[in-house]
Amino acid sequence: MPERNPNPAAPARAAATPRGEPMSELDRTGRQPKGHLVLRTLAMPRDTNPSGDIFGGWILAQMDVAGGLMASEISKGRTVTVSVEKMSFDKPVRVGDTICVHAELLRVGSSSMDIKLEVWARQLVDAYEAERQLVTEGVFRYVAVDENRRPRRVPDNPLFFTRD
Ligand SMILES: CC(C)(COP(=O)(O)OP(=O)(O)OC[C@H]1O[C@@H](n2cnc3c(N)ncnc32)[C@H](O)[C@@H]1OP(=O)(O)O)[C@@H](O)C(=O)NCCC(=O)NCCS
Repeated sequence: MPERNPNPAAPARAAATPRGEPMSELDRTGRQPKGHLVLRTLAMPRDTNPSGDIFGGWILAQMDVAGGLMASEISKGRTVTVSVEKMSFDKPVRVGDTICVHAELLRVGSSSMDIKLEVWARQLVDAYEAERQLVTEGVFRYVAVDENRRPRRVPDNPLFFTRD
């Protein structure tokens, strides 16, 4: 069983005010994002349903993109998504929110990688104050595959994990 990289993930870089001061981040739960900030994007009007709410499927897609990016970096090649753990959406995402996907490697098997993904939405509440909320989280399993889409062994990658 490989160990996780002991280096803690780099925290998300705070945005800055025009004067260069860090923008304050308010999170009512006190919980902080875990893992590498792999993807940041903006929820746009095109990502909404006819009622104007952001599609859950769009959020899932952002998670899969982020997890796939990390899985490919870890395994140094092509990967496919093989499973997604049960998930729930605990907070809404609104048009104009910044979506941050944080990824943490939990486990490496022979060809598979379990990656925990957290989605945080950052909403501007006034000119310089931002509020951050955990929207959803889940464990995605990726499998490293070769050019014929057959599983291949995840090679050692000390940047992310070590094997016993
Ligand atoms: C992923 C895939 C290549 C695995 O092929 P397979 O013949 O089942 O391969 P194996 O039985 O050797 O399993 C390979 C690994 O996948 C894992 N795995 C396979 N099916 C799984 C499932 N349903 N749930 C969780 N893990 C699974 C196995 O545990 C194994 O992990 P390990 O090597 O770390 O022990 C194949 O299922 C596939 O191509 N699926 C479609 C993936 C896809 O198109 N995703 C959506 C678009 S990216």
